[in-house]
Amino acid sequence: MESWKNLIPTPALVLNYNIMEKNMKYVAKFARENNVKLRHHVKTAKTPIVAHIQMKLAGDAAEGIAVAKVGEAEIYRQCGFDDILIANQVLDPNHIERLMKLTKYTKIRVVVDSEKNILDLSKSTVRNSTELEVLIDIDLGMGRTGVKPYEPALKLAQFAEAHEGIKVVGLQGYEGHLTPQTNYDLRKEQTEEAMNQLIATRDLLNENGFNIDYISASGSGTFTFSGKIDGITEIQPGTYVYSDEHICRVCSDFEPAATVLSTITNNTGRRLYTMDAGEKALETADGNPLFKDYPKCRFRVVTEEHTQFKSGVKDELEIGQKVELIPAHICITVNLYDYIHVVKDGEYIGKWAILARGKNY
Ligand SMILES: Cc1ncc(COP(=O)(O)O)c(C=O)c1O
Repeated sequence: MESWKNLIPTPALVLNYNIMEKNMKYVAKFARENNVKLRHHVKTAKTPIVAHIQMKLAGDAAEGIAVAKVGEAEIYRQCGFDDILIANQVLDPNHIERLMKLTKYTKIRVVVDSEKNILDLSKSTVRNSTELEVLIDIDLGMGRTGVKPYEPALKLAQFAEAHEGIKVVGLQGYEGHLTPQTNYDLRKEQTEEAMNQLIATRDLLNENGFNIDYISASGSGTFTFSGKIDGITEIQPGTYVYSDEHICRVCSDFEPAATVLSTITNNTGRRLYTMDAGEKALETADGNPLFKDYPKCRFRVVTEEHTQFKSGVKDELEIGQKVELIPAHICITVNLYDYIHVVKDGEYIGKWAILARGKNY
């Protein structure tokens, strides 16, 4: 067993620094070569030092960060980030007030997709004597958030622009529903179609008096297509930084950098084992994790503190052994932990605080 494993009490989240760096360099190189700006979505790592490394490696290509929540924005602002896009709607009155405070000392923008939200934001900017730059969030087929492209987007942009304190500076589109498409050609074609809708919507706005060239889009499974399209000025990939079983299934250029380390606690015979990572340490709703060094091992029963699994015929496992698990969905797994233990060049270098863990509000 690698010696670093003895230094980490389980269950634990572990980061292979070298793999993370390789993932980061791939995206940074892509952005530089394609002249597109990078706005890393930090909802995956929730760990400011990771975003600092991403920004440094991306150099001039790094524009800033995207966050999912005001709570994440507050943490990252405290850690030195001053160009932040909240890539979701901010509706709750408490969240809006905190957003207004951030506008006083941060270049912070938010996406909008409804008149009600624009009205509330506008009233709050006036009350707080501040201003807010917004991006119109366009639904590219995911059906989760966003206003429909073309006329509905134009109407909403005109509504926003007519309200005090609000300035429309760009468009956002997130084509996350295309990420699971394993057929490369189809994913490319559908992403290009989605991006064309964004660009045509921008043109419609500009024909109607706007002067917009800022379009922020995309995630880890599609940025290699959208980032090459003229008019898409910025990409927002998040998951790739650690990657997981899902993203590696569609993008072979990425490797899983973060794993859950667990100790085998029991062997009940017939190749059946128990380990100390259960529901509280693993996210399984999106699929069972894979065993990094034992691809034939299969999950059987997951309970609060334990997982029972069956090994492959030739696997040699023993009680006390530590095994690494590759999560199906890393973003949710990270949110279960206070720290991520970091291993670089095969050596344990310490743990980083997941400062934005649980900042879902
Ligand atoms: C608006 C938005 N942009 C970008 C991303 C990043 O996508 P991915 O995690 O696939 O890289 C997400 C992920 O949820 C998102 O919601």
